[in-house]
Amino acid sequence: MVREWKQIADVLREDCEGSQVELRGWIYRTRGSNKMLFLVLRDSSGIIQCVGSRNDLGDGVFDLARSLMVESSVIVKGRISPDSRAPGGFEVQVNGMEVVSPAEPFPITKDQSEEYLRDMRHLWIRSRKLTSIMRIRSTLTGAIHDFFRGMGFHEFTPPIFTPNSCEGGSTLFEVNYYDRKIYLTQSWQLYAEAAVFALERIYDVSPTFRAERSKTSRHLSEFWMAEMESAWMTYMEVIEIAQEEIKFIIGRILERNPKDLEILDVDQERLRSYLEKDWSVITYTEALDILKDKGGMEIEWGKDLRTIEEDRLMEFFDAPLTVIQYPKEAMAFYKPLEGQAVDAPGPVAKCFDMLAPNGYGEIVGGSERETDIEALMGSLRKEGEDPKNYEWYMDLRRYGSVPHSGYGLGVERLLAWICALDNIKDAIPFPRTLKRTNP
Ligand code: 4AD
Ligand code: MG
Repeated sequence: MVREWKQIADVLREDCEGSQVELRGWIYRTRGSNKMLFLVLRDSSGIIQCVGSRNDLGDGVFDLARSLMVESSVIVKGRISPDSRAPGGFEVQVNGMEVVSPAEPFPITKDQSEEYLRDMRHLWIRSRKLTSIMRIRSTLTGAIHDFFRGMGFHEFTPPIFTPNSCEGGSTLFEVNYYDRKIYLTQSWQLYAEAAVFALERIYDVSPTFRAERSKTSRHLSEFWMAEMESAWMTYMEVIEIAQEEIKFIIGRILERNPKDLEILDVDQERLRSYLEKDWSVITYTEALDILKDKGGMEIEWGKDLRTIEEDRLMEFFDAPLTVIQYPKEAMAFYKPLEGQAVDAPGPVAKCFDMLAPNGYGEIVGGSERETDIEALMGSLRKEGEDPKNYEWYMDLRRYGSVPHSGYGLGVERLLAWICALDNIKDAIPFPRTLKRTNP
C-alpha cells in the first residue's frame, strides 16, 4: 500500500493547523541545541521549518536528527502549527523522523562564484533559485503548446541530424555520421517549410545547436527554439502571432508562478504592464534614425544591428520592439525582397527581429520565405553554399508553392528576460557553451 504523504506547499494553510502530517524531502538548513532541534525541510514545492525537542523525540531519534548534514533526505512526521516567525507562517512540531539517506558535507556553501556553482550544477540544480527557474520554464514551454494548439496549429517535429545549413555555415556543428559528414540542426525551418504543404499551420519546441564562438551572456551552443510556420501568412501577420504568444506566456507565468517570481525577485507589476501595452513595430531604417537622433550612434545603412546597438535602441522602448525590413544583403538566403518598402535607401527583406527590453536582446527572429527558385539559388551561391545540396528544398517551390512565413523564439532568451537573469546559462538546466560541456 502506498503511504500518504503531503507536499510542503499543501500544508502551509490554515485548514491544516493541528493536523498530523508526513512530509518527505531534504534538509535545507539545520541548527539547534542539545535539547531542541530546528531544521528547515525542502521539497519541490517549498520549504518549512520543523522543530522538535529531545523530550518528545527521545534520545535515539533526536541525536540522529541533530547529526544530519544539509541535503540529507528524510521523512518527517509531526503536527502543523502556526508560527509567525517561520517562513510561510507555519511550522511542523516534529514527533517522528526517518532518515532515508544521510548526506556527506555539502560542497556548496554561501558566497561561491557563479563559475563554481556552474561546475556544481548537478547539485546546485536543487537551489531554490534554479528550482524556481525550472518551474517557470516548464510553465513557459507548456504555454507555447497550449497557445498554438488553441489556435489549431499542429505540433511538427523536425530531424536533429541534417545535411543542410539554415542559418549560415559558420555556426554549424559537424558530426561524424557513419563516416559521413552531417550537422546538428540550427533551425527546424527548412523541414517546416516542407510540412506546411501538408499541415498548413505548425509549431514545435525543440533543441537547436550553434557553434557560437563568442563568449556572451546571451549565447548557448545548445538551446531550445520554439518555432512556428504557416502557409498563406505574411511576415506582418506572424509578427502579431509572436506578440500574442509572448503575452500569453507572460500571463500564464504571472498566474501560475507568482511565488517563483518572488523568489527570483522579479518585478511582477512590470511584467503585467507588458500585457496592457501595444508593442511597437518599426523599420530597420527608422531604428537607425532613432539610434542617430536619440542615441548618438551613427550606423552605416546595410549593416546588421550589433548587441550594443540593439541595447541602446531598447533604451527608448519599454516593451518588446519588433524591427522589420533589415537590409537584404545581410540576411539569410531564404528571406525575400520587400518590394513595398518606402523609407529604405537600399533593398530590404520581408523579415523581422523582436527585441526584449532591459538588455536581453533578440528574442524572436522570423520572415516570409522566398518562393522563387532562381532567387534562392543566387542567394545560396552568395553565401558560399552549393545549391545542389538544397535540391529537395527547391522541390517545395516546384509543386504548388504558396506564400508562407514563420519565426523562431529563443526559449532561454525569453526565460532569461522574464526572470531577469544575469546570464542565459541559468535559463537552461545544464548549459553548453564554447567552454562548458560539464557536468
Ligand atoms: O534569429 P534566428 O537565427 O532565426 C532562425 O533560426 C530562423 N530560421 C527561425 C525561423 O524563422 N523559424 O534564431 C531564432 C531565435 C533568436 O531570435 C534567439 O532568440 C534564439 O533563437 N537564438 C539563440 N538563443 C540562445 N543561444 C543562441 N546561440 C541563439 N541563437 C539564436
Ligand atoms: Mg536572428
